Amino acid sequence: MKIALGVSGGVAAYKAAELVRRLQQEKLDVQVVMTRSAQEFVAPLTFAALTGQKVITEMFSAEAGAPANVESAIEHIAVAQRIDLLVIAPATANVLAKLARGIADDFLTTLHLATTAPVVVAPAMNVNMWEHPATQENVEALRARGVRIVEPDEGYLACGMTGAGRLAGVEAIARAVCEVLGIRHDFDGETALVTAGPTCEDLDPVRFLTNRSSGKMGYALADAAGRRGARVILISGPTALEPPAGVELVSVRTTEEMYRAVLERATECTVVIKAAAVADYRPVSPHSKKLDRSRLRARAREAAGQARRLDCGQRRHTRGRRVRPRNQYRLPLRSGWTRAFAAADEQVRRRQPHSRRSPPAAARLAAGAHGRRRPRTRHLI
Ligand SMILES: Cc1cc2nc3c(=O)[nH]c(=O)nc-3n(C[C@H](O)[C@H](O)[C@H](O)COP(=O)(O)O)c2cc1C
Repeated sequence: MKIALGVSGGVAAYKAAELVRRLQQEKLDVQVVMTRSAQEFVAPLTFAALTGQKVITEMFSAEAGAPANVESAIEHIAVAQRIDLLVIAPATANVLAKLARGIADDFLTTLHLATTAPVVVAPAMNVNMWEHPATQENVEALRARGVRIVEPDEGYLACGMTGAGRLAGVEAIARAVCEVLGIRHDFDGETALVTAGPTCEDLDPVRFLTNRSSGKMGYALADAAGRRGARVILISGPTALEPPAGVELVSVRTTEEMYRAVLERATECTVVIKAAAVADYRPVSPHSKKLDRSRLRARAREAAGQARRLDCGQRRHTRGRRVRPRNQYRLPLRSGWTRAFAAADEQVRRRQPHSRRSPPAAARLAAGAHGRRRPRTRHLI
């Protein structure tokens, strides 16, 4: 998940560096945005080194010394659309006022208006500034709008006064971020095996059978399980996706390879999620040389005839008893899997609000888990 961390110009700006580290432990990808005043307290380089990413310091790249281009001009919109959450820590009295009134005169405040992601704000300031009715009104306005406020702590302040206004602890801010993002740790100690993507069945060295599975569901599930504390083994057919951070990726091509990879690792796992779309058919034996077109046509005709006769299960009955096809592996499932699916579903929904959704993942898993799904891989040629 990607979040933006806004740092504004208060003494506590240096604590944002520690917050970056803490958020990274939650496997969050942190993009830091600094106000001009914040740069008086901490150099952007500190955050660039911690995050490995460019720190956004200006609205217009020309101000930051780089040539202006379309990419930089729409950067705030791009960041706004990419992030799952905006957290501002420390938030100055000035930033609180701008957020409350919808002022957008720098990158951070423009980002706040441009994003639809949830917002978490951790104010820090002198006790009189905090208790000022203007600040309190601004805080209430933000709270009423759904912004999560992490109240400042009481204690000795940098200005020499004592009272409320000290930036809340890094742990309290991280906890608020996790709560808003729905990050939990209820899979700590579990090992989750997730299958994803399509499989490819070679007919000859240049042709193969496959399907249009993107692998997105399996990768989102692997990501959700990892974020909730599980060690994740992702067994994936060919996809164009980046594996989620921290997962152990096992790349396979055929259903047989996936089958073996699953069985090899099954004993290590406490959770198994079968989200792969294995090929419906596979050749009895792939041809080592490229088939010429006429032979391929004859074989395809023959195979099409077989496929029509080969209605689910018929070839798999032995003495009246249905035999599980070889690619249907089954393992006990942990009761918590429905929650993993709900989280992943939610994530997919949020990322693709307008796309057509697949049937509820939990229902699909339940079907697979109890062996009621159609046996899938059948011999074709
Ligand atoms: C040494 C120093 C410390 C400051 N600390 C704070 C602070 O902790 N909280 C705050 O709201 N303002 C603080 N200010 C005032 C802000 O820097 C000032 O309001 C600035 O305009 C905030 O800009 P920004 O909100 O765009 O970051 C401090 C100013 C100075 C000079």
